[in-house]
Amino acid sequence: MAHLVEVELEAREVEWEFAPGRSITGFGFNGQIPGPRIEANPGDTIAVRLTNRLPQPTLVHWHGIRVPAEMDGTSAVQRQVEPGETFDYRFDVPDAGTFWYHSHANETEQIERGLYGPLIVRGADEPTFDREQVVILDDLKLGEDGELSPFGDPHEHHAGREGDIRLLNGRQEPELQIAGGQVERWRIVNAANTKYVRLSLGGRPFSIIGTDGVLLSESREATEVLVTPGERVELAVGPFDEGDVIEIEGLPYDRGKGESERACFGTLRVGATAPSRVSATGVPAPIEPLAAEGTEPNRTIDMKALMHGGHDQRDDPVRVGELQVWDLVNETGSDHPFHLHGFFFQVIEANGEPPPVVTWKDTVNVQKKSRVRIAWLPDNRPGAWMYHCHILEHHAMGMMAHFEVIA
Ligand code: C2O
Ligand code: CU
Ligand code: CU
Repeated sequence: MAHLVEVELEAREVEWEFAPGRSITGFGFNGQIPGPRIEANPGDTIAVRLTNRLPQPTLVHWHGIRVPAEMDGTSAVQRQVEPGETFDYRFDVPDAGTFWYHSHANETEQIERGLYGPLIVRGADEPTFDREQVVILDDLKLGEDGELSPFGDPHEHHAGREGDIRLLNGRQEPELQIAGGQVERWRIVNAANTKYVRLSLGGRPFSIIGTDGVLLSESREATEVLVTPGERVELAVGPFDEGDVIEIEGLPYDRGKGESERACFGTLRVGATAPSRVSATGVPAPIEPLAAEGTEPNRTIDMKALMHGGHDQRDDPVRVGELQVWDLVNETGSDHPFHLHGFFFQVIEANGEPPPVVTWKDTVNVQKKSRVRIAWLPDNRPGAWMYHCHILEHHAMGMMAHFEVIA
């Protein structure tokens, strides 16, 4: 049975105590950072009344949700919501998965200040875990005065904005708990402006059970996973032994700006052992490939040209029902997380190699000096859409394009 999920979101300034005794002026929804968790089941309708009490205009985008174009929350489809105004978003959620909502106006500042939250769509028969946690990763760049470092620093245009304060669910390096012997489902979102997180749990093995938009039919064992800004990943975490203390960390990664330092996001403390009731039933069927390996692209997106193209680029329209095979070519010296609004795509090859698993994504890392081929099918949601680099400073600089889906 489909339900109506009604939510009031008030965007306003909030004293954000990101660590005990340390606060800055953040932007939060309903006074919270991250904003309230919105939960629904596939087929439900979400109705959000947004009220803007910020000192600047805003918009809310539903990252990864296959909304109608008018509800996408970009300035291509609606007027910005001015201070004091309200706007009603209303859309159905067709797919189960881990999504997030975030500001789509002056994002470099508004998202850095905390204007984002999780949106969870829970499928009917999914594998059950002992417990679930939503883990939103982020960072903060503060100046020596302890306030947010000023926005618009020209150095950030290319390098992006990365800070030394690492946040997990809006708090600096917090402690999470897990019971010994139990296995949890972690829904991970990278909400940072720029920071790439090569996530590790102190080197312990975990299973990757889902990507941006879906659960995988076969989980993959790993000890690390790269989560770029905008991406989500779902993990099965545990079991661990009572008394273990495990670091939730970002390993060094070179996205083209030199190798980053190891970064701690938080600690996982393993409590008393409890019985486990994990069941692997409800694992979804394998995803059919949209396009065979070697399918020729019908569009090439040159990320270098995009990066230097300036604001408000337009790309050619695509037609409902016509398979899109796009080559994302990155000849720049750094990685870029490519994000497509409103539609899922499949990676069909990266540097000529097929991906380890066929899955749905809405954000994919295109490594420096590399090429990723994606396939996607515009379903019947005509209107104005866009794609962009999810390094927010790159997006702001114009590393984006609008295009139409036409009937
Ligand atoms: Cu998270 Cu325009 O996107
Ligand atoms: Cu998006
Ligand atoms: Cu970029």
